[in-house]
Amino acid sequence: MKTLQNYFDAKNVSPDLQKLIFSLLWAGANFYELTLFHYDFQNFYADTTNKSGDRQLKIDVAANDVFVGLLKENDVSLIASEELAEPMKGKSGGKYAVAFDPLDGSSIVDADMSVGSIVGVYEGDSVIGRKGSEQVAALAFVYGPQFTFFITVGQGTLAGVYRPENYPDDIAEEKRHDQFYVSNENVTLTEDGKYFAPGNLRAAASESWYMKTLQEWIKAGSTLRYSGGMVPDIGHIFIKGGGIFLYPGTAQKPDGKLRLLYECAPFAFLVEQAGGKAITQKGDRILDITVEFPHQTTSIFLGSKNDVEKIIGKIKS
Ligand code: AHG
Ligand code: MN
Ligand code: MN
Repeated sequence: MKTLQNYFDAKNVSPDLQKLIFSLLWAGANFYELTLFHYDFQNFYADTTNKSGDRQLKIDVAANDVFVGLLKENDVSLIASEELAEPMKGKSGGKYAVAFDPLDGSSIVDADMSVGSIVGVYEGDSVIGRKGSEQVAALAFVYGPQFTFFITVGQGTLAGVYRPENYPDDIAEEKRHDQFYVSNENVTLTEDGKYFAPGNLRAAASESWYMKTLQEWIKAGSTLRYSGGMVPDIGHIFIKGGGIFLYPGTAQKPDGKLRLLYECAPFAFLVEQAGGKAITQKGDRILDITVEFPHQTTSIFLGSKNDVEKIIGKIKS
């Protein structure tokens, strides 16, 4: 298998961006092997809630600490996390602003289901007033039976895997890069997918278009693949090469619950670079939405182009 280093060299990715991406991967590998694997899920909740009003788990906080710790050592001027009330300053004059969801899938982690991390990288020192289309890289890590990852630097989307020779703390810095391999350097979504991952299924009770759409997928013989974790659910679409993931809003909560900055914008970048589409319930491109406040949410439909476009017609009709 080609190493990620070989891929970056072939694509002429700037050394600064490479360094940041390897640090993020290293944060993911550390969290996966040293924290998550050994975690005591009996002792679950922290005494805090995050800005979205979710009760924080100790593991959410632990994941955040691993990422923030590594980002502080990097050329990063702003660190924005789903688990921080406000973005925090990093190095003054740092080249990048990084936004992330350190642990996606908090509600299923104690059941030992796959979870993940999601990251969006911007140049500059701000995230507010920016659009997802300004991201220079997006990453999603899946912590499952293996540590797999999806990365885009705007030259297509790659899938990769971590193959450690040893535990991370035993390995010299310069050897770390050789442990990240590319399993598919050109993830490509078919225009029509065979799989559907319907988030916020509860909304089907009040939103008739959603109920109708689900029935049509079932009648058409599509396959349900839904775990309750955005990262493994979209990761499944990338690995199988097509499908749709959605998290719609309702009349009461039109923007749903998934966060634009930490979850939707990075995935929209990854999906578009794989030839797919990512839009809101109104049909607006996710990457064109301006971030107005850190924990802003948006409805989202993303994946295979035709699957995504077809739903918009249903909502209107
Ligand atoms: P997080 O764990 O970061 O709060 O995000 C969980 C998200 C996402 O992973 C998943 O698709 C969605 O929540 C599921 O939400 P519902 O339980 O509301 O369907
Ligand atoms: Mn999440
Ligand atoms: Mn989270």
